[in-house]
Amino acid sequence: MKSLKTESLRTLESLRTSFRKVGQDHVFEHIEDLNAQELEAFIEQLNSVNLEALSELVKTHLLAKEKDSTLDWELLKPAPYIPTPAQGGDPAEWEAAHELGEAAIKAGRVAAFTVAGGQGTRLGYDGPKGTFKVSALSGKSLFEIFADKIYRASQRYDVKIPWFIMTSELNHEATAQAFKDNDYYGLGEDMVSLFTQELVPAVDLNGKIILENKGMIAMTPNGHGGSLSALSKKGATEKMRAMGIDILSYFQVDNPLVPCIDPAFIGFHLSHQSELSSKMIPKAYALEKVGMFCEYKGKQIVIEYSDMPQEMQNMKDANGGILFGAGSVAIHLFDRDFIDRIGGVSGDESLPYHKALKKIPYYDPQLGLVKPTEGNGIKFEMFVFDALPKSRNPLVIEGARNENFSPVKNADGIDSPEACKQDLKRQAVRWLINAGEAMKLNADGLVDFNFEINYRFAMDGNDFKKQWTHLEPKPEIKEGTIIGS
Ligand code: UTP
Repeated sequence: MKSLKTESLRTLESLRTSFRKVGQDHVFEHIEDLNAQELEAFIEQLNSVNLEALSELVKTHLLAKEKDSTLDWELLKPAPYIPTPAQGGDPAEWEAAHELGEAAIKAGRVAAFTVAGGQGTRLGYDGPKGTFKVSALSGKSLFEIFADKIYRASQRYDVKIPWFIMTSELNHEATAQAFKDNDYYGLGEDMVSLFTQELVPAVDLNGKIILENKGMIAMTPNGHGGSLSALSKKGATEKMRAMGIDILSYFQVDNPLVPCIDPAFIGFHLSHQSELSSKMIPKAYALEKVGMFCEYKGKQIVIEYSDMPQEMQNMKDANGGILFGAGSVAIHLFDRDFIDRIGGVSGDESLPYHKALKKIPYYDPQLGLVKPTEGNGIKFEMFVFDALPKSRNPLVIEGARNENFSPVKNADGIDSPEACKQDLKRQAVRWLINAGEAMKLNADGLVDFNFEINYRFAMDGNDFKKQWTHLEPKPEIKEGTIIGS
């Protein structure tokens, strides 16, 4: 401590007073063991904590009596949506939306946006999730797959499509390094912008800040909903404005099946003058663990599966389908000015926080860093879909699951890399059949060998059909073929 600069000592004392006032001064318990450098770093971290906001979160989510749901379930209705032509939607309407969307893309109004600030704990992969390899043959990573799709859209529409990526301080450096090492995945450094979201301290079940080291608070990213303020405050929307971009195509880092740039979706978003459009996929079964698009008192909302009573999730519509069947899969289009309107504010007007019980590694004086096997702490997160009721003309369109959603969440089983690889292969087979190729399928509706379509060659099924028709000579589809490489 003696070697600390007088100014730092003063800051330390004033921090101690502030933390004591809100009952969090246990964080100073081990500072005697820190060297000057560690202490300086700790002071910097403590300074970054918004104590007032944290105390409010602890008060509302942990200390106050748990509020019963404020929703009157009787008033909850399924949100209306535009069905795909395959499910009864008007093909002419989809065609018109496609054309309108294409015109907007060509005019340079669209940017891509990936939220990649999560910790990906369920997958258990050591590194930013975007660098996880999912292509069965080429070994392409999630980031590379998105880059290929964005590259193809830029080429197809002869336009620059910038790509924004949100990280958190926990994975920013590694993510930035991956982009550098891979030469920005062929998109050009000037087309890629990375920025960080905010972190919030994790607390134990009594609301006390968790230390992950003697001089370090356990901080966790503030949820994908933190993207709105990060986009607004870290200069992304300003950049968009300067480039004439007013539509942001939002998707998650773990879903390689997502069409990063979807013309029809963009067309519907524009024709409905929507500030926030969403894609839904029909739930596979009533109790599938996805949020559901609903309407409540004239506002569009997403209800988490864990919040809706099971008997409601099981309710049927007039045709015997699932009543609350519109699954939310985190594919959205945002109007730029809407992002600034929501992301630029703080306090009551910004998105609400939710609490989640998580396994938070913590410091124990005897054991050092302990990685708990059970939930021991609380992470505070904002959810992006909480922006829906604040948006004008929110719109939902249907998407086919097999062309939109196959996330890599878990190491094995459902939503695992293996399941995702199968879905990517299924898509490739489907695109070929749709383009007129005869494929010999096995009992699983798949082929027995591994092959791939390079998304730099085609970004969606329509595009593939055109590209394949003009491709001469066509490669033989067999083990090891990568179409368009
Ligand atoms: P998940 O809900 O799957 O969370 O994120 P996660 O942290 O990545 O994974 P687990 O729960 O620890 O296994 C869905 C998407 O939202 C992003 C993720 O990167 C992913 O694209 N996300 C999540 C953020 O960008 N920031 C966050 O704070 C949380």
